[in-house]
Amino acid sequence: MDDFLKELRNNHHNFDKGKLTDYVPEEPFTFFKKWYKEAFEFQKEANAMSLSTVGADGKPSSRIVYLKELSDQGFIFFTNYQSHKGTDIEANPYVSLLFFWPELERQVRVEGRAEKIPAAESDDYFKSRPRSSQLGAWASQQSRKLVSRAKLEEKIHQLNIQFPTTVPRPENWGGYIVFAEKIEFWQGRPSRLHDRIVYELENNQWAIYRINP
Ligand SMILES: Cc1cc2nc3c(=O)[nH]c(=O)nc-3n(C[C@H](O)[C@H](O)[C@H](O)COP(=O)(O)O)c2cc1C
Repeated sequence: MDDFLKELRNNHHNFDKGKLTDYVPEEPFTFFKKWYKEAFEFQKEANAMSLSTVGADGKPSSRIVYLKELSDQGFIFFTNYQSHKGTDIEANPYVSLLFFWPELERQVRVEGRAEKIPAAESDDYFKSRPRSSQLGAWASQQSRKLVSRAKLEEKIHQLNIQFPTTVPRPENWGGYIVFAEKIEFWQGRPSRLHDRIVYELENNQWAIYRINP
């Protein structure tokens, strides 16, 4: 293991797959959509993003969630509103998102404010989910202590009986939109001289600037 770690440490990756010089649109969503599409051409799960929150105790916490929708204002994901992340967002709506697309040597970093999406929109998405996931949303008190796996499975069994046909959306499950205030596009470049382009909202206008690698 030690040798393996040592070898990893000495493995100096050279980034040479692209550059960020000619394509800089006036707002970041067009940019994001282009990179997002390209990411899917090269890798699976390009929609998996790290979501970082900071709760009332000031301690940061990160986990992966799926980006499910993209509007011209923000990034939408779905979760349990009473989970660890939900409780954090309740106390402090400022979050950050991070996409890492290694096949393209790119990362995109988003900072913004999370807000629950309207209930009707969460209903729409919930309806589109497989029945098993719908029941799972009812069964799982996400992030809370669980006595045993068997208890969870028993709950699913009960819910199957309780909801023989349509499964309604539990009130504590739904979407958040992250209204982006800052988005950084990072493209790896040789010799660690990476390209970093930042879009930052200033008085409702996107300021665009480059930062040091
Ligand atoms: C690839 C991947 C995708 C995930 N997508 C979601 C998701 O969209 N929503 C969600 O609530 N959890 C998702 N999870 C599980 C979360 O990472 C996390 O375990 C869960 O949301 C509980 O987080 P919390 O206790 O910090 O609130 C995903 C995990 C992985 C590995």
